[in-house]
Amino acid sequence: MAEPGSPTKEDERPKFNLVQEIASSINDSNQVPERYIHKNGYQQASDSSAPWMDQLLIDLSLLSSSSSPAAAAELQKLRSALTSWGCFQVINHGMTRSFLNDVLQVCKEFFALPLADKQKCSGAADLFSGYGNDAVIAGNQILNWNDRLYLTLYPEDQSKLKYWPQKPKKFREIVREYGMKIKALPELLLKAMARSLDLEENCFLKQHKEQGLTARVNLYPRCGSPDRVLGVKPHSDGSTITILLQDNQVEGLQVLKDDQWFKVPFIPNALFVNAGDLTEVMSNGIFKSTVHRVVTNSSSERVSLAVFYSSNSDNEIGPANELVTADRPCSYKKVTMKNYGKLFIECYPRGQRTLNALKF
Ligand code: OGA
Ligand code: NI
Repeated sequence: MAEPGSPTKEDERPKFNLVQEIASSINDSNQVPERYIHKNGYQQASDSSAPWMDQLLIDLSLLSSSSSPAAAAELQKLRSALTSWGCFQVINHGMTRSFLNDVLQVCKEFFALPLADKQKCSGAADLFSGYGNDAVIAGNQILNWNDRLYLTLYPEDQSKLKYWPQKPKKFREIVREYGMKIKALPELLLKAMARSLDLEENCFLKQHKEQGLTARVNLYPRCGSPDRVLGVKPHSDGSTITILLQDNQVEGLQVLKDDQWFKVPFIPNALFVNAGDLTEVMSNGIFKSTVHRVVTNSSSERVSLAVFYSSNSDNEIGPANELVTADRPCSYKKVTMKNYGKLFIECYPRGQRTLNALKF
């Protein structure tokens, strides 16, 4: 989901209960509130044995190495993954499996706390900060079976400590450390993405004057009606790049390719990376901003940690000049993150893609 935007005032927004509270108060599927039910179900993967997406493993240590044949081959794999799927899984990113497990563990422990503890981080007054549930609400949209905690990782002076849980005790330390370790990754990837298109390596990066990282810790509680309730509806992210640490036990993420849904496998040691809308804009449509969704599960809850990389709000992002040619005319309008956020708030509740509002 997107993280930028101009917050609407708290009292102008309808209130819904936290999904975790609803889930723990019901025990059979008929009681899932109407607002969460996709009346005719939702578009399932083609059959019960839904296909898995390709593994699309990208070795970061090769991407960052200089011009060896192996590095060139890895750049080619990156380009191919981003043009056909808009996503891939990064390995050799330098974080150990045990550290990634610690990060997930502390996120799970946060959601396991009593409600009153979690509500100390409540982000009621701000759409993209703190603890809460589906906040971008309009009309009769069907709601997501998902609670989340939004935290600003960078710039650090905007991290608003009041939203950072004091319990579990290690939460702040571990999530900060994760933020520090992940900080270099989007920049490295953006450079590699430019090189993979034979562009100067700062071509995409330089459009991000001041860079921002926002974390979204997601909880998808168990759901008695998984065939009619989605954890997150189909969307593409309002970021340049999103890096997702997935639950190490429960799968649920799916990506759309050629009108077909594919399951995203959990790969130990890998981080799932998807291009967001701003990458599609900058690459003038060469790289795809992946449409994805999260399905629910009747037996297990699921946790994930998404980190969105984007730019500051006044910064304008547009198709790179080098990628606008006679054969490939400019397909997207330039947009500031602030205006992107406004468009997102209009489009998302209606099930529309923000990206379409940017197309010529
Ligand atoms: C998101 C998102 C996927 C997941 O937070 O934008 O798509 O698996 N999350 O939680
Ligand atoms: Ni997303």
